[in-house]
Order: sequence, then structure tokens, then C-alpha cells
Amino acid sequence: MATRGETGEQAAAADRGRFITLEGGEGAGKSTQAQRLAGHLRERGLEALVTREPGGSPKAEAIRELILSGVVAPLGAAAEALMFSAARIDHLDAAIRPALARGAWVVCDRFADSTRAYQGALGNLDPRFIRELERVTVGPDRPDLTVMIDVPAATGLARAAQRRGGAPDRFEAEGLAFHEALRRTFLDIAADEPARCVVVNGEASPDEVERQIWAAVQERLPLPGSGPQPKPVVRDAQRRKEQGAAHPKGDERRKSGDRRKSASSPARASREKSAP
Ligand SMILES: Nc1ncnc2c1ncn2[C@@H]1O[C@H](COP(=O)(O)OP(=O)(O)O)[C@@H](O)[C@H]1O
Ligand SMILES: [Mg+2]
Repeated sequence: MATRGETGEQAAAADRGRFITLEGGEGAGKSTQAQRLAGHLRERGLEALVTREPGGSPKAEAIRELILSGVVAPLGAAAEALMFSAARIDHLDAAIRPALARGAWVVCDRFADSTRAYQGALGNLDPRFIRELERVTVGPDRPDLTVMIDVPAATGLARAAQRRGGAPDRFEAEGLAFHEALRRTFLDIAADEPARCVVVNGEASPDEVERQIWAAVQERLPLPGSGPQPKPVVRDAQRRKEQGAAHPKGDERRKSGDRRKSASSPARASREKSAP
């Protein structure tokens, strides 16, 4: 709801939901914790959308099948990164942006950091290619908070094997060295972007990991009604500029739909500063 002196767009930005991503290796506990986090948000009366990548929308789930079956792998890391990006474009358009616009909190199991890690660092792709892909697919809708669930690769792989029972998918089938490098890459991303990322120890019990994540969310993203919130800052002009460049439809989307009242986020402001 707009208060006196606030522009419509500022009010819309304040009513937007929050975007949280969970990242980490296979078996780190992302899917487990995505559900638990959504439970906490719902207890607070918030709408929470739990979604995942690759996938999260019907078209993106179709692409997921292709990628995880391994038929794209022989085409190389660049082709794989493009397939992930194609899926991400639809996932954002069909699920994530509409949810955020109506004030829902989105909890996404893997997102762009997985592309940076799997296809970028481990596929030896030029980081500029990955950054550009991220810019044109994600645009200004980068996560407000990214939780890196950190476990030793061997621990995560053992958990994943136990859970699965059957044959490993395209990425689970990679060797231990690959998964250890993956873990280091996620930690490097977190170290590079401390305003967006938090690392939690995934070796702790599921309940303890849940507690750590919920504490981080409460600290980084003030929940609606949890005290005085910072006013929206000049970032709106910056966001319009980014939307103009990367997502001409973004403004249009923001104008429609009802929006729930929610907090403005310091993490979001700092994230705008770290835009590539
Ligand atoms: N903190 C934990 N400690 C022990 N086992 C866990 C923990 N978190 C999840 N698991 C178990 O490990 C397996 C993989 O967890 P999951 O959430 O599916 O991981 P991911 O989605 O990161 O691959 C599941 O069987 C899950 O029950
Ligand atoms: Mg999972």
C-alpha cells in the first residue's frame, strides 16, 4: 500500500516478496531445508513458493529431463550452460517473477550459482560468458539471500546415493575430485558476495541446519511486521535501468497483480551494488 509521498513504484518494490536460493553439492540437504524453510515462512503467514532448478515450470522441467539424462553433456559445457539458461528464463517468467510480484517468498533449490559452479568453474567456461548469460537471464531478479549448505563432497555423495537407490544422474556420476572442486567454488562465491550469501554447516543435524538457516533469514531479510524497516533507497532508478536493458517486460509485470505488504531489504540494496 502506498503511503503519502511514496511513488507507486516504490510501494510496489516494498511489497515484492523475497527470493531465497539454496545452493550446495549433491546431498547437502537443499531439498530437505527448502521445505523446512518454507514451513517457517508459512507459519509467519507468508505465502512461500518452493521451487527448484533445473526445472520449476513445465517447460523448464522438460529441459531438466534432457540435461539430467546426459544427452546434452556430449555437446560441452557451453551448450549445457545455454540449456540451463533456457530453462531458467522460463522458470523466472512462469513461476518466480509472478510469485515475487504478488508478495510471495520464493525458496529455490539451486539457481544461477549452480551454473557458475558446474558449467562455469568446472566446465572451464570463460567467466564473462557465464556472467553475461546470468545478466540476460536473471537481470535484476538476483536472489535476496543465498544459503550455501556446505558438506564434504564424500558426505554429500554418500547421502545422495542412499536416497536415490538407482543409477546416478549426469552430475552425481562425476568423480569425487569434481564434487570437491564444486564445493570450493560455492565457498568462493560466498566469500566474493558476502552481502548476498551465507554459508551454513551442512554436517550438523537436519534440525540444526534448519535453525541456522532460519536465523540467517531473520537476520538478513526482516520479515513483514518485525519492526521499523529501512525506506526504499535510490535503487529503483538503477533497477529500471537494468530492466530496460535485460528485461523489457519486467516493468509491465510489476504493474499488475496485487501485492502483499512486506519489508524492504538491506540485502537487496547491497546486491544492487554488486551487480555485474
Ligand atoms: N543434515 C543432514 N544430516 C544427515 N542427513 C541429511 C541431512 N540433510 C539431509 N539429509 C539426508 O540426505 C539425503 C539428501 O538430502 P537432500 O535434502 O535431498 O539433499 P540435496 O537436495 O542437497 O541433494 C536425504 O536422504 C536426506 O534425508
Ligand atoms: Mg535435492
